[in-house]
Amino acid sequence: MRVLGIETSCDETGLAIYDSEQGLLAHALYSQIDMHIPYGGVVPELASRDHVRKLLPLTKEVMTKANCQAEDIDAIAYTAGPGLIGALMVGASTAQALSLAWDKPCLGVHHMEGHLLAPMLEETPPEFPFVALLVSGGHTQLIEVQGIGQYQMLGESIDDAAGEAFDKSAKMMDLPYPGGPHIARIAAQGTPDKYTFPRPMTNRPGLDFSFSGLKTFTLNTIEAEKGANDGVLTEQARADIALAFQEAVVDTLVIKCKRALKQTGQKRLVIAGGVSANQYLRQQLENTLKGMGGSVYYPRNEFCTDNGAMIAYAGCQRLSAGQFSDKQIKVQPRWPLTDLPPVTDTE
Ligand code: KG4
Ligand code: ZN
Repeated sequence: MRVLGIETSCDETGLAIYDSEQGLLAHALYSQIDMHIPYGGVVPELASRDHVRKLLPLTKEVMTKANCQAEDIDAIAYTAGPGLIGALMVGASTAQALSLAWDKPCLGVHHMEGHLLAPMLEETPPEFPFVALLVSGGHTQLIEVQGIGQYQMLGESIDDAAGEAFDKSAKMMDLPYPGGPHIARIAAQGTPDKYTFPRPMTNRPGLDFSFSGLKTFTLNTIEAEKGANDGVLTEQARADIALAFQEAVVDTLVIKCKRALKQTGQKRLVIAGGVSANQYLRQQLENTLKGMGGSVYYPRNEFCTDNGAMIAYAGCQRLSAGQFSDKQIKVQPRWPLTDLPPVTDTE
């Protein structure tokens, strides 16, 4: 089965064609980040309008790259949620229009299931079962995964997501949106052990996360530094704070992953979502899993953040099992991952 995947949940327009026999045939991505930078974050209405501009040209681009005509596509998958409602609507209406025009089935895919399954596009994909750590701009979740759609939520953030904490802390340090990669970059110049940030909710049992306190801790540290330096945050102090912040977030995630693996008895850990591009997080988790006799799996960098390939892949698994949506243009800005039906009959 050959599936065209469409991702428009936030500020990236992603298109891809995945073939169940031949793998990923083509993908194309347009990031709106430069357009949102002056506003310090994503402006939903601007995001929707830009998806309208980019979606059809990118569709043509992947069709050409994959050497496909409309009749070579068996089905269409689009991100139906969670995400920004206007942005989702652009992808949903385009997908449904193509589905009608081409007379091919169409399926609304869960964005976080797309992230969760993204490592399946790599050369050595993880086998089921595994524990997944989903770390994006909107979600921080630990899930036990028995198969596609067989998800048990082990823990999640009770306030800010890990990526959101990176973005908000970066903003306080006058770093551009999205802040995660900028914090990681300047942390490389930081002085180890200059500051120690708290590891929230690690000293009590359970697998939930809370990152909003870290943001306040960052703000207080910045203010103290400025107070001691005539109101100026020096480059070195900024790097030192970025390093301490990154260490605190990563250490917290590592502690909870270890706990989740012990609790479930699993030996495989999947990390996915934008924050899984963080090299320090990958390194620390690899060391941890090595010590436990297990392995870590993650997508290539470009498939950690939002992309069309993960939607084409996830859609293909469900469409191959006979799941498809009706002709309604339907999106779900809020949509628990655990509401998804299981897939028992994949190709
Ligand atoms: O998965 P994603 O592209 O979008 C959502 O579904 O939210 O994730 C974006 C998030 C942003 O918060 C961004 O700052 C973060 O991923 N991110 C990183 C890194 N690269 C992206 N955070 C830390 N280190 C990175 N290298
Ligand atoms: Zn995402």
